[in-house]
Amino acid sequence: RSHDASSCTAEQPKRPAPPSSSLNTHHLSYKGAFPFFRLPSEVGRFSLDSERHYHGDSRKLRYYRPPPGVERGVSPGWDLMDGYEDRFVRRDENVKEGLLHILTWVKENQELLGESKSRPLDRDFVTWRGHLTKILCTPYENQEGWLLAVSLFKGTLYISERETEVARKKREEKTTMQDKLMYSGYKFESYLCAELRDGQPSPTEVVNTNEAFCSVLLARLSKHSFLVSGEVDCCDPQASNSNPPFCYVELKSSAKIRNQHQQRSFNRYKLLKWWCQSFLIGIPLIVAGFRDSEGKVAVLQNYRTSDIPHLIRKDQHSWDPAVCMNFCDAFLSFVKNLVTRDDPRVVYLFSWEPGRDVTYSVHTDPNYFILPAWYIEAMNQ
Ligand code: A3P
Ligand code: MG
Ligand code: MG
Repeated sequence: RSHDASSCTAEQPKRPAPPSSSLNTHHLSYKGAFPFFRLPSEVGRFSLDSERHYHGDSRKLRYYRPPPGVERGVSPGWDLMDGYEDRFVRRDENVKEGLLHILTWVKENQELLGESKSRPLDRDFVTWRGHLTKILCTPYENQEGWLLAVSLFKGTLYISERETEVARKKREEKTTMQDKLMYSGYKFESYLCAELRDGQPSPTEVVNTNEAFCSVLLARLSKHSFLVSGEVDCCDPQASNSNPPFCYVELKSSAKIRNQHQQRSFNRYKLLKWWCQSFLIGIPLIVAGFRDSEGKVAVLQNYRTSDIPHLIRKDQHSWDPAVCMNFCDAFLSFVKNLVTRDDPRVVYLFSWEPGRDVTYSVHTDPNYFILPAWYIEAMNQ
């Protein structure tokens, strides 16, 4: 019998091939047209207060209120270290919240999400935007691996990150320098954000990293529907489109770029992450503050999220947004094919290390569970 491709086409396999147990992550495998992506629409909001308590409202939403001049190139000179010693309250990073706040929002807003008893949440996936950002960046990431735990419950797949051993070590061994850098990112926000729509920023206040405003959105990537939530830095009261997420602004701080080499590295690593993070939830504007060697903001620069793919296209060894999205599409299909036991007491752990394929293992030890008993009970009613 001949085995060349042309003579095999008439012969259909009797059973579909078993799902593949690993997924290639090489960027060249995902080159191609940009997949279908529906603009995310906001379905809800919640806030976390200074003690990390959940509130089903927008109380922690802040407004983008740049002081006059700074957007026209006047150097702001803001000191990003101000308050580090005496006006800084850190969130306890040892507390692993998992999907807690999203699940709380879902529980309180079930009527918005579906009618069916067998599939009370009419979405294929539920996850944090930050987890999707990691997936999108995977084909270009060469430093940090990830672990994503997935459970299928009543027809919906929940994806929750688990900290890798490497990440835990890195966190526990964080240097003062790294801690200061993290602080400076939050401090930057305090110079640009006001609590009231017509208020002024108050940079003398305490920076408390427990506080957050989160948007909950519905989106679709090719055949995958999802409910995704992400933290939003602020809302621009003067945005041309005042509807969320189009009025939202992402704030970023970064070291001043001094040469071609730094520019390439900024385009290759930072703009990749910034684009993925904002694109996923439809945030159209990123305002970056570049700091000088003394940690002061030398200049502000606006990036329209939709311009970033054009800015990096001319670079050699650049990244391609279609690759990020095609990989995400493939990963979600991979998860859908493998995670077939509809049981919150079964956790599929997907793991990835740079240079390797994505693989998985199955766990029934409660230590791995991602859905708490109160949530399962609420969705079973
Ligand atoms: P910068 O990114 O401006 O440095 P976000 O930009 O996502 O709104 O996050 C706000 C700030 O939180 C960041 O500011 C950074 O300081 C800190 N941060 C966010 N993700 C981080 C991470 N993975 N590691 C360390 N710090 C992080
Ligand atoms: Mg933020
Ligand atoms: Mg930010």
